[in-house]
Amino acid sequence: MSISSRELRQKYLDFFKSKGHAVIPSASLVPEHDPTVLFTTAGMHPLVPYLLGEPHPAGKRLTNVQKCIRTVDIDEVGDNSHLTFFEMLGNWSLGEYFKKEVIPWSWEFLTKPAGLGIDPRKLSVTVFGGDPRLPELPKDEEAAEIWLSVGVPSERIAYIPGGVLEREDNWWGPAGQTGPCGPSTEMFYWQGETEFPSAGSNPGNDKENWLEIWNDVFMQYYRQPDNSFTPLKQKNVDTGMGLDRVIRILNGNIDIFQIDTLWPLIQKIEEVAGREYIEKPTVTRAMRIIADHLRAAVMIMAEDAHVAPSNVERGYVVRRLIRRAVRYGKQLGITDNFTAQIAEKVIEIFADVYPEVLRNKDFVLTEMAREENKFRNTIEQGLKEFGRLVKGFRLDFEQTGKPITEISGPDAFKLYDTYGFPLEMTQELARENSLTVDVAGFAQAFKAHQAKSRAGSEQKFHGGLADHSAMSTRYHTATHLLHATLLKILGPHALQRGSNITQERMRFDFAHPNRLTPEQIKQAEDLVNAAIVRDYPVSWQEMSFAEAKEKGAIGLFEDKYQERLKVYTVGDPNQPAVADPARPTYSREVCGGPHVEHTGLIGKFKIIKEESIGAGLRRIKAIVE
Ligand code: ALA
Repeated sequence: MSISSRELRQKYLDFFKSKGHAVIPSASLVPEHDPTVLFTTAGMHPLVPYLLGEPHPAGKRLTNVQKCIRTVDIDEVGDNSHLTFFEMLGNWSLGEYFKKEVIPWSWEFLTKPAGLGIDPRKLSVTVFGGDPRLPELPKDEEAAEIWLSVGVPSERIAYIPGGVLEREDNWWGPAGQTGPCGPSTEMFYWQGETEFPSAGSNPGNDKENWLEIWNDVFMQYYRQPDNSFTPLKQKNVDTGMGLDRVIRILNGNIDIFQIDTLWPLIQKIEEVAGREYIEKPTVTRAMRIIADHLRAAVMIMAEDAHVAPSNVERGYVVRRLIRRAVRYGKQLGITDNFTAQIAEKVIEIFADVYPEVLRNKDFVLTEMAREENKFRNTIEQGLKEFGRLVKGFRLDFEQTGKPITEISGPDAFKLYDTYGFPLEMTQELARENSLTVDVAGFAQAFKAHQAKSRAGSEQKFHGGLADHSAMSTRYHTATHLLHATLLKILGPHALQRGSNITQERMRFDFAHPNRLTPEQIKQAEDLVNAAIVRDYPVSWQEMSFAEAKEKGAIGLFEDKYQERLKVYTVGDPNQPAVADPARPTYSREVCGGPHVEHTGLIGKFKIIKEESIGAGLRRIKAIVE
């Protein structure tokens, strides 16, 4: 069978229309009512108020195709699976139908001719297997029973125990810590070497060979700030089918970049570069990155919200996407401006699917060309400079026999200051040459430069930072890391009671009855340093007191009533903050700023003193080097 994206969208919407669903348009990629997230990441995201009980004007059964952006994996793009922009097909029950309706419909759509007509032997499912830490959330035997009743053999049904609090497989929660959530059942397509899976194979025991294509979530709980789960007023269904993946498998499990909403971009890139996609792996990867990044950048810029490349928030994501694409264009040997040509193709592909894309065409093309021009002026020289560095390392190695493996702080700073390379780009270039970057040294060079010059070309990338002393900004972000860390190690009572920062040190006062043990001090230092080394991005969102509270932000004072609060997040603003360097988000705190843009700029953190300053109050003095 072969099917186009256009046919699949239509089939899906028609199918659910025939089951009484109203077709609603895709919401904007720029969330309209939620300042805490940068982009819409799933179809349910714009529907949260309705999942909580607000009546939706189109009724209780909805279906649509939603544009989505996920930025956590930007650096993984270039393989045969990761995409920054993708489309999600979805259908929703707002407090109406539930498991026994939606599971048979999902099966019908997947296997019957009115739907996709997939051979049932190539399908398997997973259901929620319970979370051992949360006995109140039992395994979903009801879903498994329903799958059996529609004809899925038991060997193709796997119970997956959930990491509910971490929102792992078979549990879906919203962006942020609290909100509507519930167990899910996922559907998988066979992608093994053989035509059909062997007896007993399912995603529970043979994950590699099964590709998730659809997720039905039974959204029936509300996750409270204390991690308890209370039943929602209404039981909802939220489903999401990855359009790009389904197109891929239904067309013979092709390369994801060969689907019809990406392949024309690759062809255009081949034409502009005068090279072939299949020439060699580095060429394939470069073309994939360019196609993915420019497709995502265009779709973001084409929203009516008019997001242009900039140094903050959504604009910064757009800038990083475009600049990375330009750099890979250079690697392919493209010498002229090319991004607008690719952008035109993206617009052509989506113009009649999402009307805003055509409506904002001029804005997209103008901004795309402007950004490329800006960067093209410096990138060539910058890449030469980088090449000179690497060559210097080699010569040095030949003479001394000692290898140099690290780009120094001053060199990274020069690339940044003179040639406009975001630190992330220098780090990527370094990785490609088996080198690392001295991030702490970069921060130091940055600071030294500031001391010498107030001219502020660094404002290019660091926004308001140049207005403040870089050193105290580093201490300020370190304070947030320490606060979150102490709450984690000592308990929720260990709240900040005072703070003072100079150029030389930070002082942090907090509530705690006892002296910290040397182990606790070491643990605090280690955690803060791990968070620094992980190089979390730091961002802020504006929100109401109630929203900040709901999102679990610390630093809230009930009596200090303000209309809008600024909340800083260290890590992914869409994830709960847990002060664990293995998790995507480390801290979330109400604060006016300023902060470093990413924690790698802080340097090494060291506690130099811990003392009592009164009953139940302790003080830590710390430095960063
Ligand atoms: N919200 C669910 C998902 O994105 C359907 O997988």
